[in-house]
Amino acid sequence: MVLAEKKQNSLSLERKMKSDIELINSYLDKYLEIRYPHVIWEAMRYSVLAKGKRIRPVLMLESAKACHGDINNVIPAACALEMLHCQSLIHDDLPCMDNDDYRRGQLTNHKIYGEATAVLAGDALLAYAPQVILNYTPESVDRKILLQVLDEFLKAAGAMGIVGGQVVDIESESKEIDLNTFNYILMHKTGELFKFAVRAGALLSQAEEEKLNALTSYGEKIGYAFQIADDILDVTGTLEEIGKTPGKDHKLKKNTYVSFYGIEKSRKDLENICESAKKILVDSGINSELLFNIANNIVMKAVK
Ligand code: IPE
Ligand code: IPE
Ligand code: MG
Ligand code: MG
Ligand code: MG
Repeated sequence: MVLAEKKQNSLSLERKMKSDIELINSYLDKYLEIRYPHVIWEAMRYSVLAKGKRIRPVLMLESAKACHGDINNVIPAACALEMLHCQSLIHDDLPCMDNDDYRRGQLTNHKIYGEATAVLAGDALLAYAPQVILNYTPESVDRKILLQVLDEFLKAAGAMGIVGGQVVDIESESKEIDLNTFNYILMHKTGELFKFAVRAGALLSQAEEEKLNALTSYGEKIGYAFQIADDILDVTGTLEEIGKTPGKDHKLKKNTYVSFYGIEKSRKDLENICESAKKILVDSGINSELLFNIANNIVMKAVK
């Protein structure tokens, strides 16, 4: 694909995503109204309402649409997922973890509010997110389905999910690790939230088993691919492009897709994995232009 064509596709995808993003942003703003003690809600809002790409909540909305679901049933879970993601970013940036000064094009939470408040803002988001699912999901949604979504949310958030991935990521700095350990990191620190995004959209839309399974495989693949892209962009991106300081992975001696396989294979594997994610959609008759294009977009951002 020529560069101009890539840019054109990317722009039209952005336009289509814009209405999902605006919807999510308006609900995030509403759910995170300032209460007492003000400083903690301000710190939560500082990170959540900053300019994130919102790919996870958009995936949830689009997965629901692909399953002919009612968008109102997924908005609270989609916002809760973005809150969980932001919690992981606030904590990931702390000096005791990746020690980053910039995130989403602005200073990191602890640089503004101090480490204690940043830790607490992450804690508060993690605790508030399941409350949002419980208290704002319409009563018409079957409680059994809601409990399953909640269970999967908590699994993705904890030691069986993102926390598991993060702890192995940190433990593995400066070490040579085997392929299984490396894959565990990618699938857990990043993959779990993507998988949850598409599964929750399908579950809350009462999708049939086959569709749920296809979307689960799609989510796992694009979650894995997304971390490959993030690892590539850490090497090739600028602060302006990625909103965070590039070159951090090398500095911290992280095990990344690029350190593991080199940049060329990273790019090739990224393309192949996204192609296979798109094939899952086609083969299972999931006719969603946006889900299809999100896979393309992950590649385009990293393979220039
Ligand atoms: C950053 O995620 C963390 C990773 C899993 C790579 P995003 O790249 O989605 O960050 P935001 O939400 O746009 O800030
Ligand atoms: C991504 O890890 C997973 C998270 C839970 C944040 P990274 O450490 O690569 O994410 P960035 O590059 O800081 O966004
Ligand atoms: Mg990290
Ligand atoms: Mg980091
Ligand atoms: Mg990274």
